[in-house]
Amino acid sequence: MSTRLPQQKLRLGVNIDHVATIRNARGGDHPDPVRAAEIVASVGGDGITAHLREDRRHIRDEDLARIQAATDLPLNLEMAATEEMLEIALRHKPHAACIVPEKREERTTEGGLDAAGLHNQIVPICTRLADAGIRVSLFIEASERQLDAARRLGAPVVEFHTGEYAHAHLDGDADKTARELERIANMARLAAEMGIEPHAGHGLTYENVQPIAAIPELAELNIGHYLVGEAVFVGLESAVRRMRELMDQVR
Ligand code: PXP
Repeated sequence: MSTRLPQQKLRLGVNIDHVATIRNARGGDHPDPVRAAEIVASVGGDGITAHLREDRRHIRDEDLARIQAATDLPLNLEMAATEEMLEIALRHKPHAACIVPEKREERTTEGGLDAAGLHNQIVPICTRLADAGIRVSLFIEASERQLDAARRLGAPVVEFHTGEYAHAHLDGDADKTARELERIANMARLAAEMGIEPHAGHGLTYENVQPIAAIPELAELNIGHYLVGEAVFVGLESAVRRMRELMDQVR
């Protein structure tokens, strides 16, 4: 039995990494991700997500404190399971820390975290984050094995990687899109039954967001690249508003 009602509001976390990517392309301070965070707050976004990568290719250390000072929105810090990132998280105390896999050579976070295989490496990180009052989330594939590992790690939240779903949708592969959607929906239900709050994100767009947003157990979507891309044409305010509207239509 689902523990959530279908009409419950689905939160939208906006990932502002790629505002920083554009800024860093010229090495100056424009466009400032802090201004993006303020705009997200002003149009009713529910949270700011930022990934401090090992190579600092977009968000940088000093951005975190500036984002936290500029808005009251909860900050969801995406981080690799390393000692360096743990120390940064403990210093900044974001609302949530989402542990993601990270390879220096990848263009984006290409797959889910192997929470099952990396149990021993992740346990102390989850424990120290939780002890500091930071809500731990694990960015995993929608599979029973990974969900079970998240439960054993005591994670209150998981975020399902929607990349495979988004790729299948982009390729026009209706069968695979439906299979991926079903997998995410089944795992969202199972997570809720386990008492874990399920989130989802990666590769979501205006075109593919609604079937995911309609999964009743999902509590939050984290969306970045597409919104920042759309913002180039229509402005961040309009892009976030449109995404919010599309999500609300199916709740
Ligand atoms: N959620 C997590 C955990 C991520 O790492 C990312 C970025 O890779 C996103 C959501 C947002 O994905 P996108 O930028 O494709 O919307």
